[in-house]
Amino acid sequence: MCFKKQFFLLLIFAAALGFRVTAQTWVVPDDQKAVTAPAKFTPAMQKQGEQVYTKNCQSCHGLPGKDNWVKLVPPPGDLAKEKAQKQTDGEIFYRITTGKVPMPEFRNIIPEDDRWNVIAYLRTFNPKYVQPEPSAKTAFTGRIVTLAMQYSEPVKKIVVTAHEKLKDNDKAPAAGIEVMLYVKRFFGNMQVGDMKTTNAKGEAFFEFPADLPGNSAGNVDITAQVNDPKNQMKATPAAATLAIGVPTSRPGLTETRAWWSTRGKAPIWLLLTYTLSVLIVWGFIVYIVVSVMKIRKLSQG
Ligand code: HEC
Repeated sequence: MCFKKQFFLLLIFAAALGFRVTAQTWVVPDDQKAVTAPAKFTPAMQKQGEQVYTKNCQSCHGLPGKDNWVKLVPPPGDLAKEKAQKQTDGEIFYRITTGKVPMPEFRNIIPEDDRWNVIAYLRTFNPKYVQPEPSAKTAFTGRIVTLAMQYSEPVKKIVVTAHEKLKDNDKAPAAGIEVMLYVKRFFGNMQVGDMKTTNAKGEAFFEFPADLPGNSAGNVDITAQVNDPKNQMKATPAAATLAIGVPTSRPGLTETRAWWSTRGKAPIWLLLTYTLSVLIVWGFIVYIVVSVMKIRKLSQG
């Protein structure tokens, strides 16, 4: 085997690998390049963006327009300069969101609107910049529902009313909303009755089990929630404390002596065993110390 030839091949391989690493580019998918900001940039957004920039970006990219970025590999560069400014808003947004070593991924660090605010701020350094039409598609188009709840004495039922916000910011009763009722218990919530769907007036009626245990005053904590497993709505639940339960005096978890309770409420047997074992251990330690002293005395004498 020719050693020289092998070494040469290895060298070529290493060079190719090194070339690949340095030539690695930061590609932004085309559909991401086309993304535009959800709203027209305002001076307030630019001001907010400046704060976000100072806190999150300046440590590497320096002050925009001052070319005082930190010498890293690859170089972060000045974001006020042509190389960054010739990119679309969507492209810059994608880079901020996804990051690339050593630049952090800001997806979970900077909220989405603040990421746009940074771009609004950076664009103030580009006199040639004209903002493209904001995208309407990022606006929420699902139903925005708010629930309310009350107890109707005449019918002895809980009435949950659903309202939804309309496009013109008006409110209207929301029909066809699936509502579920829960009663607060020691551990989490317990569903009461079946799921109901609101009628044309946005109302859903829930029968109440007559024997439902309440607290000592008969109060029950109830929440009404929208059933929206696919997360297509923005729903605000309703909560109320209603005096419709059977008064039940039930000691709280830490009110009686029990082994899970606080120290003052521990069971007597637990206190005794614990104290006894501590005494035995200490007694043993004292016994050892005394014995050692005795041995020393013996050896000296
Ligand atoms: C830890 C250092 C660091 C921080 C913090 C940082 N960046 Fe970067 N950034 C870089 C580096 C390094 C590059 C170059 C990456 C490359 O070219 O592969 C870069 C590249 C970019 C680019 C692409 C620039 C170009 O010319 O193509 C943009 C845009 C950008 N950063 C925006 C930001 C914004 C906005 C923030 C703050 C929210 C930020 N960066 C925070 C290090 C950082």
